Amino acid sequence: MSDAPSTQPIPADASPAPAQTGARIIAVTSGKGGVGKTFVSANLAAALARRGQRVLVLDADLGLANLDVVLNLHPKVTLHDVFTGKARLEEAVIAAPGGFSVVLAGSGMVEYSRLTPEVRSQFFHAVQKLAPYFDVILLDTGAGISEVVLFSISLASEVLIVATPEPTSLTDAYAAIKVLAMQQKRQHVRMIVNQAARPGDGRAITGQLQQVLDRFVMTDSGRPLRLIHMGDIPADPAVREAVMRRQLLQLLNPGCPAALAVAQLANKFQETLLRHAA
Ligand SMILES: Nc1ncnc2c1ncn2[C@@H]1O[C@H](COP(=O)(O)OP(=O)(O)OP(=O)(O)O)[C@@H](O)[C@H]1O
Ligand SMILES: [Mg+2]
Repeated sequence: MSDAPSTQPIPADASPAPAQTGARIIAVTSGKGGVGKTFVSANLAAALARRGQRVLVLDADLGLANLDVVLNLHPKVTLHDVFTGKARLEEAVIAAPGGFSVVLAGSGMVEYSRLTPEVRSQFFHAVQKLAPYFDVILLDTGAGISEVVLFSISLASEVLIVATPEPTSLTDAYAAIKVLAMQQKRQHVRMIVNQAARPGDGRAITGQLQQVLDRFVMTDSGRPLRLIHMGDIPADPAVREAVMRRQLLQLLNPGCPAALAVAQLANKFQETLLRHAA
């Protein structure tokens, strides 16, 4: 059992960075469920934190959150408490193992399967309020194209699609990307292929998906939506073991193939998307 997590209040005297230097908000999403979004969010966060970035992972899967389970955290205050006026947002920011912060949604909040205007507004304002205090906010969303998922993705400037090489995962990824191009006018999305069998598989798969997009999904600008391949993570039994032990892979087994791939991914994020940490 872990100890009760320490809350990480936003310091009262902290001066938020100007808006343009606030957090990069990245939605980690997928078409199909169970492909590794939460694993990627938590471990990428730890790898970026190691590189000096101030990282927050926000559990944006409001109805079926499980970031707390993976990180073995037992939060006293969740986003649900903030949304229902029982606590302040600052109280919901918790220190996670791995040197980053999390805001947890609270499990089984079935009432959020329908997105009311109040929840929309609260969700939006929570992310806006947190942004100045971090370099990057990862939104660990639910799978698919439900209203809640699409709304949480709409809060992000970048979208990271996680897919596995299975045809079902790729078909669902394609469907989700198409909706993002049409509804959110996205010009590009970023892609990670998780549980890749061989090195190079992910780039090939991303290329094949791009070919389908080129034919069927035009963006507003009249150009096809661009898929940006960020990297692959191999299928690795150490991932399941870390989940079973409710520990971060980056801490439990930093030298295993999947952890090394996540570290490479963090380098790529740092180089392409984030400001270099001092
Ligand atoms: N690279 C990998 N190698 C082996 N197993 C993996 C890998 N990535 C994920 N898994 C397995 O897949 C399971 C599901 O991962 P995770 O919970 O991160 O998926 P998810 O996309 O967040 O699911 P949900 O849609 O339910 O939120 C993990 O518990 C782990 O057992
Ligand atoms: Mg998840």
